[in-house]
Amino acid sequence: MWDPSTYLRYSDERSRPFHDLLARVGAERPRAVVDLGCGPGTLTVGLAERWPGSRITGLDSSPEMIGRAAALAAPVTFAVGDARDWRPAPDVDVLVANAVLQWVPGHRELLTRWAVELPPDAWLAFQVPGNFAAPSHRALREVAGRDRWRQPLAGLLREAPVGEPVDYATLLTGAGCAVDAWETTYVHLLPVAGADHPVLTWMEGTALRPVRAALDAAGWADFRAELGARLAEAYPVRQGQVCFPFRRIFVVARTGARAEENP
Ligand SMILES: C[S@@+](CC[C@H](N)C(=O)[O-])C[C@H]1O[C@@H](n2cnc3c(N)ncnc32)[C@H](O)[C@@H]1O
Repeated sequence: MWDPSTYLRYSDERSRPFHDLLARVGAERPRAVVDLGCGPGTLTVGLAERWPGSRITGLDSSPEMIGRAAALAAPVTFAVGDARDWRPAPDVDVLVANAVLQWVPGHRELLTRWAVELPPDAWLAFQVPGNFAAPSHRALREVAGRDRWRQPLAGLLREAPVGEPVDYATLLTGAGCAVDAWETTYVHLLPVAGADHPVLTWMEGTALRPVRAALDAAGWADFRAELGARLAEAYPVRQGQVCFPFRRIFVVARTGARAEENP
């Protein structure tokens, strides 16, 4: 289950990649714009502000997230739905998926399908975290691999759920798109507030969700204490804050003209 309030704790840091991604989307008057995995909808609203004449839809598989988004009362249609079942209508000129495809196994096949099903000259823009080899995730996998948790957490934490920028560029170029792919490492400076290490607080909003759901209350309390100790070693507190480098991968693809339209 996604908790919108926990997710929004670092909304400034989490929203910046969305803006950096959208800055490379050059659509002027898209007919329809879809934000897949829109979460609490706060960023989707920005799409409606940028393209006020467009039909904007936000889709997310979490009813809790869509409940929060619908309460924004914005000119956006929010609906519960799974990205894997979604198919573009013929007028979807912009498709955005920010920080969602790492949760969707088989997303490479979806990307290829969308590249083919979107209309010509449409924009397909997505961003995924590229930090699965970072100390935070290594610590998470290490603690999860200990005897006590190996069985309840079996299969929950994938080592490499996303590709590299070159993989996505190759995939989408092969599907007939013009591709702009890059990566950025943000150095987040997270203030210490309260007893918990701030990287632990950050991870509770995203990567730790499935772990929490799989453990009972006592197990979760012990797991989080052990992980917190590991994170405190990996990300030491200096001047009341920690440096939390976070690599992200960005892709903006523009679909090509269809062969049947250019005989
Ligand atoms: C890290 S949040 C990102 C939310 C938003 N895009 C943002 O940038 O703030 C990931 C979101 O993806 C959604 N999600 C995960 N798997 C999904 C799927 N198969 N279909 C649709 N949404 C999905 C989750 O419910 C969650 O709201």
